[in-house]
Amino acid sequence: MPVSVVTGANKGVGFGIVRSLCKTVGGTVILTSRNEERGVAAVQSLQAEGLNPVFEQLDICSDDSISKFCETIKSKYGGIDILCNNAGIAYKNASTAPLLEKAEVTCATNLLATIKITKSLLPLMNQSGRICQVASMAGTLNWSFPDLNNPVRKLLLDPALTEEGLLDIYNKYIEAVKQDDYSVFKRDSAYSISKCFLIAHTRILGREMKDNPGKVILNCCCPGYVDTDMTSHKGNLTIDQGAVTPVLVCTLPEGAGSGQFYREEKLYDWEHAKFM
Ligand SMILES: NC(=O)c1ccc[n+]([C@@H]2O[C@H](COP(=O)([O-])OP(=O)(O)OC[C@H]3O[C@@H](n4cnc5c(N)ncnc54)[C@H](OP(=O)(O)O)[C@@H]3O)[C@@H](O)[C@H]2O)c1
Repeated sequence: MPVSVVTGANKGVGFGIVRSLCKTVGGTVILTSRNEERGVAAVQSLQAEGLNPVFEQLDICSDDSISKFCETIKSKYGGIDILCNNAGIAYKNASTAPLLEKAEVTCATNLLATIKITKSLLPLMNQSGRICQVASMAGTLNWSFPDLNNPVRKLLLDPALTEEGLLDIYNKYIEAVKQDDYSVFKRDSAYSISKCFLIAHTRILGREMKDNPGKVILNCCCPGYVDTDMTSHKGNLTIDQGAVTPVLVCTLPEGAGSGQFYREEKLYDWEHAKFM
């Protein structure tokens, strides 16, 4: 019986992903949430629909919560077959928070904590496991670095880029925001940068996994523009529609590649901004 884990699943796209995994994959679907009350309420509302997810607490920004969650996976569930890293945050467009706060806080969740939870749970993934990183079209290169000669764009495309190299670029981004220097990075671009670097990280991990047949397949995707709190309910897709591409990435067939970006259920070329 497969074990699936969805982060940030008490509402929005994550909740839709849990609902879809319960219906299509079955087994044990773990709805995780940083807030226990909200997570339990979400499980109860799916139970009222006749579905049977289980709740576990997980705050991806807390080392303590991550280590307790890993112990729970080992002792109670044995391992993970599907991991969907959906948890994410975005400041509202109208937010007047300082740019440095936006950059640091957004990247702490969408990039650094997502890398941390992925690497913490990777050793607990079963053979032929699947990982989906929920990124965004806002993280595509043409969005974040439209100038083809931008040196960071070139670095991100370098097949020799390592996680260390990526974190170095991240530190340079934070330094640029501190210095109010937007010669390389766009101003007020915290969300798109966080997702762009997450996609770059997916490509790095994906390259490491490429020559590992039968092992974990890891990719990322955009769920589309979804009607959730994050979009102030302006998105055109329901949460069930927003769950479709993440669930496809969570259930890719054997032999599917790693390190790729999916949009609208199809492979999307991150570099050239077109379907493949
Ligand atoms: N909606 C869209 O149109 C859209 C488009 C592209 C990409 N995305 C991505 O899709 C994902 C889901 O977005 P959404 O629209 O469903 O947003 P949402 O309605 O705001 O839900 C975000 C979820 O992430 C959780 N979360 C935030 N920080 C967390 C942490 N440290 N630990 C655990 N959970 C945490 C939230 O928990 P709380 O309830 O406790 O805050 C909430 O459950 C995000 O990664 C987002 O960037 C969304």
